[in-house]
Amino acid sequence: MRLAVYGKGGSGKTTISTCLLQFLNYFCDFQVLGIDGDHNLHLAEELGATPVEMQRGDLGTARDIGNDLDWLRSYFAGTNPRITADLPMIKTTPPGEGSRLLRLREPAEWRERYVTLIDGVELIRVGDFTQDDYRKKCFHSKTGAIEIFLKHVWEDHNEAIIVDMSAGKDVFASPLPSLFDRNIYVVKPTRKSVSNAGDFLAHAKNFGLDMLVVATDIRSRQEVPAIENYLMRTVDAVIPHDAFFVQRDSLVLSRPPHVREASFTVLDAFYNFTDLLRQLPSHNWENLLTRMLYHHEETAHDWAGVNFTAQIQPGFNPFERFQSNKLATA
Ligand SMILES: Nc1ncnc2c1ncn2[C@@H]1O[C@H](COP(=O)(O)OP(=O)(O)OP(=O)(O)O)[C@@H](O)[C@H]1O
Ligand SMILES: [Mg+2]
Repeated sequence: MRLAVYGKGGSGKTTISTCLLQFLNYFCDFQVLGIDGDHNLHLAEELGATPVEMQRGDLGTARDIGNDLDWLRSYFAGTNPRITADLPMIKTTPPGEGSRLLRLREPAEWRERYVTLIDGVELIRVGDFTQDDYRKKCFHSKTGAIEIFLKHVWEDHNEAIIVDMSAGKDVFASPLPSLFDRNIYVVKPTRKSVSNAGDFLAHAKNFGLDMLVVATDIRSRQEVPAIENYLMRTVDAVIPHDAFFVQRDSLVLSRPPHVREASFTVLDAFYNFTDLLRQLPSHNWENLLTRMLYHHEETAHDWAGVNFTAQIQPGFNPFERFQSNKLATA
């Protein structure tokens, strides 16, 4: 499954992403990859990364995908003849014959370059602004790296990719949300949080996205129906307020505790939540391909230039090898 986690600033996106990654890995035996899609790089720390894990032995510190776009593009373009100097890979370019299409689990060069392994959870980061970006680039140019990555690396049924997104609605300016099996909105029981949720969910509906809503930091029985009344929809999962989360954010501890150390109430909440996620239908490959081609054509006609439509290889199904168990060479 591939999931994205959205929410207002401070609503609990990183906490939920972290606990989901750890829970799926530790209790459900999933191979998991977390992507820190926020420029406030908190996911590594929240996963409890130690300096030794961050240094990765002989490999050295991992690069951030959003700040390594030239390599990322050329690596995933592989030998695809439709990607050229005149028609370079843009974030909507669909994979074609020769593109590097990989399974999440298989050994590959991208992993050595980008992945930090933190207590069983693999992490890659989009990265922060660099000196070269000031006055020139918006964060979108970096989140485009997630789009490229997600179009070329595909997970199996017992694997998960979870992206901890940045706060705000900017994501609707890109096709990124359509690359996930489910998009999750995290809401706290406060006026501002539900107000932002209402706004975001309305955009999601117009965008054509089916969202899951997770209510977190819930202290009383009345709070969930209050959120549901405000949003005029049901809440799909409830995470209680708990000392475990307060402890996770405490400066007194050197590392936030792993979800395996959580209270029974928190474990029960994540058990129910992951149970729901595991019942989601797996990828609809046909839909994914149709949307990918549509978004590329739209981009070509809107701003990239109609000649970019030549990057679409008629009749090519990039997902065939995943459907038929054939592997690409890494
Ligand atoms: N269920 C909960 N019980 C208690 N505290 C919680 C709960 N969920 C989240 N929190 C607290 O809310 C705060 C914000 O959480 P978190 O950093 O995950 O939010 P965020 O949405 O990722 O924020 P940002 O937008 O800054 O990235 C943290 O102190 C976290 O411990
Ligand atoms: Mg965060």
